[in-house]
Amino acid sequence: MNDILSLHDLHKTYNAGKPNEVRVLQGVNLTVAAGEIVALVAPSGAGKSTLLHIAGLLDTPDSGTVSIAGTDMTRLSDRKRTGVRRGQVGFIYQFHHLLPEFSALENIVLPQLANGVTDRAAHARAMALLTRVGIAERAAHRPAALSGGEQQRVAFCRALANEPALLLADEPTGNLDPDTSNRVFETLIGLVRDTGLAAVIATHNLELAARMDRQLRLDAGVLVAL
Ligand SMILES: Nc1ncnc2c1ncn2[C@@H]1O[C@H](COP(=O)(O)OP(=O)(O)OP(=O)(O)O)[C@@H](O)[C@H]1O
Ligand SMILES: [Mg+2]
Repeated sequence: MNDILSLHDLHKTYNAGKPNEVRVLQGVNLTVAAGEIVALVAPSGAGKSTLLHIAGLLDTPDSGTVSIAGTDMTRLSDRKRTGVRRGQVGFIYQFHHLLPEFSALENIVLPQLANGVTDRAAHARAMALLTRVGIAERAAHRPAALSGGEQQRVAFCRALANEPALLLADEPTGNLDPDTSNRVFETLIGLVRDTGLAAVIATHNLELAARMDRQLRLDAGVLVAL
């Protein structure tokens, strides 16, 4: 079986039972196969980030299961879950979240070192990724010395540094101007197609969503076809 991500009957409510209760996920089901890119479209506040954080093991559901590469993550110890998150899941945020005191290259090297890769191999892979996204000559720059589009390209490289099976992106080009957003998004799709990983990409942009393989909308806490 080559289902990489499988979400089954996920529920998530914030502040349950309190006056400020927010029911966000109310039975989310989703299966994403290797090589498939799924667009997640929904208005602000619908729960896109909540869903991606749960799928990416950054948060836990109230009920339901998250399986990655066939293994039920809800049954693993915290330590094992962290290992899967580091090794199998790449996450891209709307804002790059790069470490400001490190260079572009180092930002891509560090997660590999944390995952047990040798320094030499980590540097080689980081340079290859920066070359692939067209900014090898910016390798020594710190994030503050990069343009917004360049910062996001570095963030893509970091997300792919450990050769994950699953890529989750939360409005990855949402803070860029339309032209840059288009070009940077094209780079991202190219990278995903190269590697054949499974990807879920949240976006407000219907044109970008249309370039993916499947389009889903979060509506009243469940996923429906767009
Ligand atoms: N930690 C939290 N505590 C309480 N409520 C929360 C928390 N995180 C999110 N929410 C609420 O849950 C709902 C879904 O939030 P979420 O961030 O998942 O939406 P989103 O679709 O990503 O929105 P956006 O497009 O603005 O990023 C919102 O109503 C939000 O206010
Ligand atoms: Mg969000």
